[in-house]
Amino acid sequence: MDKLRITGGRPLEGEIRVSGAKNAALPIMCAALLTSKPLVLTNVPALRDVSTMTRLLSEMGVQAERSAGRLVLHAASVKEPTASYDLVKTMRASVLVLGPLLARCGRAKVSLPGGCAIGARPVDQHVKGLEAMGATIAIEHGYMHASVRSSDGGLRGARIVMDLVTVTGTENLMMAAALAEGETLIENAAREPEVLDLARCLGAMGAKIEGAGSDVIRITGTAALGGAQHQVMPDRIETGTYLAAAAATGGRIRLTGAMASSLDATLDKLREAGARIAVEGTSITLEMTERPAAVSVRTAPFPGFATDMQAQFMALATVARGTAVITETIFENRFMHALEMQRLGADIRLEGNTAVVNGVERLQGARVMATDLRASAGLVIAGLVAEGETVVDRIYHLDRGYETLEKKLSALGARVERVS
Ligand code: EPZ
Repeated sequence: MDKLRITGGRPLEGEIRVSGAKNAALPIMCAALLTSKPLVLTNVPALRDVSTMTRLLSEMGVQAERSAGRLVLHAASVKEPTASYDLVKTMRASVLVLGPLLARCGRAKVSLPGGCAIGARPVDQHVKGLEAMGATIAIEHGYMHASVRSSDGGLRGARIVMDLVTVTGTENLMMAAALAEGETLIENAAREPEVLDLARCLGAMGAKIEGAGSDVIRITGTAALGGAQHQVMPDRIETGTYLAAAAATGGRIRLTGAMASSLDATLDKLREAGARIAVEGTSITLEMTERPAAVSVRTAPFPGFATDMQAQFMALATVARGTAVITETIFENRFMHALEMQRLGADIRLEGNTAVVNGVERLQGARVMATDLRASAGLVIAGLVAEGETVVDRIYHLDRGYETLEKKLSALGARVERVS
């Protein structure tokens, strides 16, 4: 298993380009199932999860052609509407094929994702919404067997009030509704920028969607969708991760190809920590000349502070001046990075879904283990700050969501190397 060896204690200086958003690319790739025409995607990040999704779609009969950031997906016909356990267990986002397969083929067999390191991750809201549109979903032997009676003419539009805000739940239902008969209303919808990016792609394919990005989305089903070309939005979590790293180590970095409007909450918190941030179009510059001030955060659905930025801000808090209170409201078990950061000398006290972090002058490098994608990012930031050498184990988690991480960090002056 690959490890990342980091020699910390140096400020980050330099400029790198932000990659396309993993959490926009994954649902948008599934949208290819909704049409028999080619879907041409650009700015697609080279990530493990994108390769896994490409493999999952190919197994269903989708033709895939990849060259650099360009990915052409062509579901001329869907031979096998099945997502098997061995693929789904490695990537929960596989559940995003459920809505499109039901809409396109009238049936689907998708493995239940099962839990993951950060929580149980149920999909009851996905099921509830699809059943409201006329699907029958039986759960047997760990699989969801979904079908909609063709005699009923496929999925029908419905008014769906989500019990809670779910990003992929909203995306699954929006894709299913695009080909359903009549109008669908999704209330209490997720407002994440990735939902809006998916809606833009669906719109280019001919879907009629209003309100994406707000908490009420109205979709008027169409008989068929066409092909389209879509550029995937920049990754706001990758952007926030590098900004948090620079705020923690000190220094001055510039990120190009970014979309500052998608991470206002993160930028506000970084300014509160003392960072100077300038936004010019798609570039964001952050300068940090002194030790960060402790900043408390409470995760929430967009436009609140992103749960995917929580571990990175905990790393920042470990060396800040003062005490930060970090509250995780989205997932029930998303503090595992805290236990690893304590090995580096961090002073963190966990109380349920709250972590109280007393900033220390400096961390000492040590061996730590990554447990999930964003926890790993938090550990990398802690390693960049710690004195001496930190080795982060099991960095396949990082490869799922960060394109050429060690290359980008090295371009910013960090001493990082990948060891197998
Ligand atoms: C998406 O996951 C992201 N993944 C996650 O990013 C992100 O952390 C999460 O949204 C929250 O922003 C992708 O977009 C591929 P949810 P998702 O459904 O959709 C509960 C990363 O690091 N819930 O919004 O799976 C759920 O348990 C990943 O890139 C139900 O109870 O998250 C959680 O507590 C990690 N029933 C809360 O809602 C459901 O049917 C929010 O989950 C669905 C969700």
